[in-house]
Amino acid sequence: MVEQVRSLAGEVEAAVRAAMAEVLPPEFASEDPLVRRSDRADYQANAALSLAKRVGSNPRDLAGRLRDLVAGADALASVEVSGPGFLNITLADAALLDRLAARAAAPGLGVPRSQAAQTAVIDYSGPNVAKEMHVGHLRSTLIGDALARVLGFLGARVVRQNHVGDWGTQFGMLIQYLFEHPDAAWRDKEVGADGTGGAVSALDALYRTARQEFDRDAEFKQRAQRRVVALQRGDEETVAAWREIVGESEAAFQQIYERLGVLLTRDDVLGESFYNPWLQGVVDELRDKGLLEDSEGAKVVFLDDQPVPMLVQKSDGGFGYAATDLATIRHSVRELGGNRLIYVVDARQAQHFAMIFETARRAGWLSEGIEAVHAANGTINGPDGRPFKTRSGGTVRLADLLDDALRRAREVVAEKDPALSPQELDEIARVASIGAVKYAELSTSRAKDYSFDVDRMVSFNGQTGVYLQYTHTRIASILRKAAEQGAGEGAFDPAVALEPAEHALALELDEFGAALEGVAATLEPHQLAAYLYGLAKAFTAFYESCPVLREDVPAEVRANRLALCALTRATLAQGLLLLGIEAPQRM
Ligand code: ARG
Repeated sequence: MVEQVRSLAGEVEAAVRAAMAEVLPPEFASEDPLVRRSDRADYQANAALSLAKRVGSNPRDLAGRLRDLVAGADALASVEVSGPGFLNITLADAALLDRLAARAAAPGLGVPRSQAAQTAVIDYSGPNVAKEMHVGHLRSTLIGDALARVLGFLGARVVRQNHVGDWGTQFGMLIQYLFEHPDAAWRDKEVGADGTGGAVSALDALYRTARQEFDRDAEFKQRAQRRVVALQRGDEETVAAWREIVGESEAAFQQIYERLGVLLTRDDVLGESFYNPWLQGVVDELRDKGLLEDSEGAKVVFLDDQPVPMLVQKSDGGFGYAATDLATIRHSVRELGGNRLIYVVDARQAQHFAMIFETARRAGWLSEGIEAVHAANGTINGPDGRPFKTRSGGTVRLADLLDDALRRAREVVAEKDPALSPQELDEIARVASIGAVKYAELSTSRAKDYSFDVDRMVSFNGQTGVYLQYTHTRIASILRKAAEQGAGEGAFDPAVALEPAEHALALELDEFGAALEGVAATLEPHQLAAYLYGLAKAFTAFYESCPVLREDVPAEVRANRLALCALTRATLAQGLLLLGIEAPQRM
């Protein structure tokens, strides 16, 4: 049995909509009722105010007519016209508690599986082989992972795709260099205690040396180019070297994914090399459809609103990044059955995606009913708001960043609870630091740049992962205490009249599904991150004014409060999990 529980907010909106359909001329009936949370009531509907002029009516009159129709609903305690024509709507305690009881009993907290018709192909992370993952890959990795979790929870079939950069002329250069310098030991490099070193770190350095030699030495350049051809032709020795490099890199990526606790596994890798055999077919199809033009020997596609054409095949016959991504679209639709293709990639690739989407539409690979989106992410800056660089001016390694967060989290946690054993401290600091980094990322709108400020991230106060995790542990501890005292598990009792802080908390709990819907619609995990912060704040306010286990609390009030605690804990834990953040029992 899958029980899906609608939120009362959704019903309020539906009720105002229905009233609008009755009192407004048909052409206005489907306008947005503009239902929002409000300080003066639970919800405020502003449609009367925004539409009155256009329908030739006075806003207060119009609001009054809507009120008369809406006010009958059982779930509402009061509906009033206020100010110039707002509709203030307050939910009945009993209706709210009823809804919460259904949520608490339903699988998945009763959230409707609204995305069940969707096959979402989510392309995220996409690090490059023979290079270390750096801070630039963090955003795509975490945002993509949260989207995969949320859409999956809402019933979508999710296919994760890690489009690793494992193909291209740079590998000819690196392999040639390694062949010419057999003593350049990179394989046996151990990762040091400080997290530096390791085979990929060594390869990254060798790659830079090879690039210098390539630029400086025309003969090496020629040998490197011949090596590219050998790789493409499938020359055994060359391919074996390439495979080894790819294997080492993927092992290193996997280490970071495991440390971060993201869902990506080796099975999700579908790198650039995978598409290589299909590129000629992509070009042929584009040519057959009359989309390809010749430009100084290169094959390009001209697009209406793009200042430059898209390069599909270079004059030397080589294919570029665009051809590969066209192939990803064709594959995602034809082979994976995707109807929502989501590319979580740096905003600086916006033009690239605009061009491949447009081309794919024209080629018929993206047909009606299939959505392709570039879920663009901004840049992470350093704490000073400037581009994030190491002291020596290099790119910041992801592993170093996580180490830094771990160190700071450990200090903060140790200070808060000096009695922790070293093992407990290790574990809590790990959970807190990863949660801190993820929450800082996921509470920011994805297209915005933000500053990586570890001190702010690991704070127990303010909008941080640590605050949310800590709130979760506090509730867990209340529930443990209740169990010890034999106070029972709690039960929602619709006959109990709620204090304002209880009512406010109940309202938040009812909106969990709506927050997830928001993420699915906008592909912005920060809507969930903001919701969870609001929920934690509402819980904190509730717990300050409403004692739960104190002796003078009447039994049915206590049971109701315990049920509120339990559902808050479950909602926080589920919400954090959907952001990929662990919800610890102690902290
Ligand atoms: N490897 C690329 C980079 O580091 C990201 C790949 C993104 N995915 C894609 N289908 N283009 O910039």
